[in-house]
Amino acid sequence: MLKPIGLTEGHYECRSLDETLPIFTDLLALEVVERKDDGAVLKHPNTAWHLVVHEGGPNAANKPHTNHYGFRVSSSREIPKAYEYLTDHKDQYKIKSVTKPHEAHFAYSIYFKEPGGNDLEIEYYNPAAVKQGRKIAAPHWTDPLPEEKFPGKGYVPQAMTHGTLNCDDKEVNDRFVKEVLGLEIIGGGRTSTYISHPSTPWYIVVLPTTRREYLTAANRKAIGINELWDLEENGRTHFIFSDISKNWWEVTS
Ligand SMILES: [Fe+2]
Repeated sequence: MLKPIGLTEGHYECRSLDETLPIFTDLLALEVVERKDDGAVLKHPNTAWHLVVHEGGPNAANKPHTNHYGFRVSSSREIPKAYEYLTDHKDQYKIKSVTKPHEAHFAYSIYFKEPGGNDLEIEYYNPAAVKQGRKIAAPHWTDPLPEEKFPGKGYVPQAMTHGTLNCDDKEVNDRFVKEVLGLEIIGGGRTSTYISHPSTPWYIVVLPTTRREYLTAANRKAIGINELWDLEENGRTHFIFSDISKNWWEVTS
């Protein structure tokens, strides 16, 4: 079993960095940490998780809705404001659609389609849900980002809280997450699993899906590894593998 010391970055493929980076910086309050020709590393000031964005070119596929990243605001009033702002600026940012604010049990959110083929979520999550055992409601920031840092929009994304993956078989995937990846299951139910690392609040929602759209080509069995890439050393030591549910992970020093 791996003994990871953190869940440190998420990866993301878009079509054009010039189109998608402003979505993250202008609409979701991320900062560009590093920019290369074919990719960039982004980070929210309140979240140590890095988002590594790859430029896949014009033919990069649309990703399933169930492979989105989510960003949290601190009050439910900001969700309709975010809806309004995104709707008003659809053309400027080439946003394809924005869903109307949708209320679930403890959550209130909108989703939008960015031009790079991905869905993104802006959510409010009621902190009181912690009392009901929902660990994902725990604070994701200590010092809220002040409005001056993200002015004129009516909402302030306070953290990048989650990413979303699919699996074929929830029970098998849950065992893999705990017994091979060494991550913790912090919640979920019959139709979802919330996984996280104990040192940080961000999490990954894994949804069992019958008709999968795999994110990349995939096809070693023993412990359920589908594909295992070579170990690489270039200032850090790392390797990439595709897991029992054909999701891709990187293990890095
Ligand atoms: Fe979400």
